[in-house]
Amino acid sequence: MTQKPPGLESLPQENVLVKIEEGIAWVTLNRPSKRNAFNPAIVYEMVQVMDVLEMEESARCVVITGAGDAFSAGQDLKEYFREMDAGHPMLRERLYRANSAWQWRRMMHYPKPTIAMVNGWCFGGAFQVLLACDLAVADEEATFGLSEINWGIIPAGIVTKSVAMALSQRKALYYILTGETFDGRTAEDIGIVNFAVPKDQLVAKTTAIAKKLIEKNPNVLRACKTAYHYTREMSWDAAAEYLAAKSDQTKFWDPEKGADKGMKQFLDEKSYRPGLGAYRRD
Ligand code: ACO
Repeated sequence: MTQKPPGLESLPQENVLVKIEEGIAWVTLNRPSKRNAFNPAIVYEMVQVMDVLEMEESARCVVITGAGDAFSAGQDLKEYFREMDAGHPMLRERLYRANSAWQWRRMMHYPKPTIAMVNGWCFGGAFQVLLACDLAVADEEATFGLSEINWGIIPAGIVTKSVAMALSQRKALYYILTGETFDGRTAEDIGIVNFAVPKDQLVAKTTAIAKKLIEKNPNVLRACKTAYHYTREMSWDAAAEYLAAKSDQTKFWDPEKGADKGMKQFLDEKSYRPGLGAYRRD
């Protein structure tokens, strides 16, 4: 007999608040007085949140945002760096592993679609989360910055790599080397977020995108993400082979047999146009 996974009731709802509405899991980093800087408490709570939401059927899309006027000010300089550097090396190692797990290793391949809703300050380590999410929407007045250079470190974790993948060389090196801040509109121009909107439209825009994702076949959404991330780093021939196998695997394991349904509705029933919208999932 398989054990029931822990549900929403198991979450502390302290450093991270979670609510689910109409299929959207709203995950709010909740240390506004410290601009939602990632301390060990947030890290370990986020690992729990990701575990729970993965198995929570009512959560079809995950939105990450921050309480107050910050998305996140990045890693906590005191609790994540100074205190951990002075402590037991194994505790530091354990924390770093958990941090990279939630911020990008799992986030990038999370089995549900993810959206970063950048509501304010977004610095340093927060870029890991931002760029590991599938999509991102920002307040046009939000402030972004790779501030590591300003206090004498390189953008580590996976920040430099993420930024190099997301931006042109000129833009990436400009922001890495100068630490200059930029706003949400620039973030949209350079492609770090999908859309920048006025603050009062942030939730509505994010909800509209999440609803689009929720309408799609979740099994295929999951496979699309995995295929995108792995094929980026493969040769063309390896990618073609991988995609052929992934495509067959996706159809084989799809509980709702979406491809068969879509084909029947288009070719036989002539009841929808795949170019213009999704098949009926009933
Ligand atoms: N680590 C630890 N504490 C932080 C952090 C952080 N990254 N960011 C903010 N805080 C704390 C401040 O120390 C302050 O605490 P206090 O009230 O106990 O003094 C509180 O949050 C509020 O910060 P202020 O600076 O007073 O807030 P303000 O709104 O004026 O400025 C800003 C916000 C611009 C985000 C500023 O706090 C800042 O520059 N933070 C650091 C941002 C940064 O460089 N992040 C990258 C970290 S390195 C990395 O992620 C790899």
